[in-house]
Amino acid sequence: MTEMKKKILEKFKEVYGDKPGARAFFAPGRVNLIGEHTDYNGGHVFPCALTIGTYAVARKREDRKLRFFSMNFEHLGVIESSLDDLKPRREAGWTNYPKGVMWAFGERGYKIPCGLDILLNGNIPNGSGLSSSASVEIVTGYILSELFGLKVSNQDLALIGQFSENNFNGVNCGIMDQFAIAMGKKDHAIFLDTADLSYEYAPIRLKDAKIVISCSNKKRGLGNSKYNERRGECETALSEIQAGMGIRTLGDLTEEQFETVKMAIKDEDCRKRAKHAVYENQRTIKAVEALKKNNIELFGKLMNESHISLRDDYEVTGEELDTLVEEAWKVDGVIGSRMTGAGFGGCTVSIVKDEAVDTFIESVGKAYEAAIGYAADFYVVEIGSGPCEL
Ligand code: GLA
Repeated sequence: MTEMKKKILEKFKEVYGDKPGARAFFAPGRVNLIGEHTDYNGGHVFPCALTIGTYAVARKREDRKLRFFSMNFEHLGVIESSLDDLKPRREAGWTNYPKGVMWAFGERGYKIPCGLDILLNGNIPNGSGLSSSASVEIVTGYILSELFGLKVSNQDLALIGQFSENNFNGVNCGIMDQFAIAMGKKDHAIFLDTADLSYEYAPIRLKDAKIVISCSNKKRGLGNSKYNERRGECETALSEIQAGMGIRTLGDLTEEQFETVKMAIKDEDCRKRAKHAVYENQRTIKAVEALKKNNIELFGKLMNESHISLRDDYEVTGEELDTLVEEAWKVDGVIGSRMTGAGFGGCTVSIVKDEAVDTFIESVGKAYEAAIGYAADFYVVEIGSGPCEL
């Protein structure tokens, strides 16, 4: 038994008492290598699951009560609810995520016959933008499927997770995070076409290099409303160029096609957002081709271009992420660096040569603290698999 499994089972016993039937599970976090803000524009993304994520223990109850406990928020104690009260509530805090998934299972016609005691322990840094909420959603879905023998496929777990986040938690996210987590495969990234959910696993063989996450530690205050605003701007742009073109999404356009129709988009900001969506999608396709040809330098260059587009056209980076990336670009041995995830805070992803990792952390760390006034955190991460029972 792994150390972690022992630790969470012991804590579960301490919190909920020692009765048989407790089972332990895990779902990863994710990082997106390239293809940002394309997933709600019918474009491609290229994320991978991580070996860090959310650990959970769950046990069936004899009544319809739900009890939640998080080792990350121990001070909140046990939070109670019931299968007959699956409504989002501000005071329910983080438990709105697992409750949302239970509600979404019901909407899909799955019966949850009895309540549960659940304990979570995540090792994804809080608020880092490595999708701790999608990880909680997927681990919850996996628990329900396994404990009640529902045999829900991992792809459906992703769709149910997204549905609950959109309709229960009010975040209008795309499918990328839940898909990357539910479908993760060790040492592979997922090249996903969000227009039809066709996907391909691409091995990430980084010879002599590592994936380094730099976490800005910026609090993401207005993140969700800005996110929904960008979606709206892309929808406006699409509707203005759609007439007569026969396209369904911005992901259907090549760069050349976009350049010929772009002036139909009246508002300049909307035009810039659409430009990013189109170019970023094409960049993601090119990046995966480069990787297949083992051209990691070109992959890195496309990551850098992705950041510039997110900074100048999509405008979702901000001083913190720009500082992390621009300082990273100065370090010898950095193959590519960009913001990852929604932006407005959160973190960056960099591919760094083995021998440069220590210098990278030291020099980016120092420059960031001097410019921003507080420290960033750095994590050398590995690509892991999807959800599992421990
Ligand atoms: C968040 C959303 C994803 C995706 C990214 C941006 O992580 O949850 O669906 O839109 O932002 O690429």
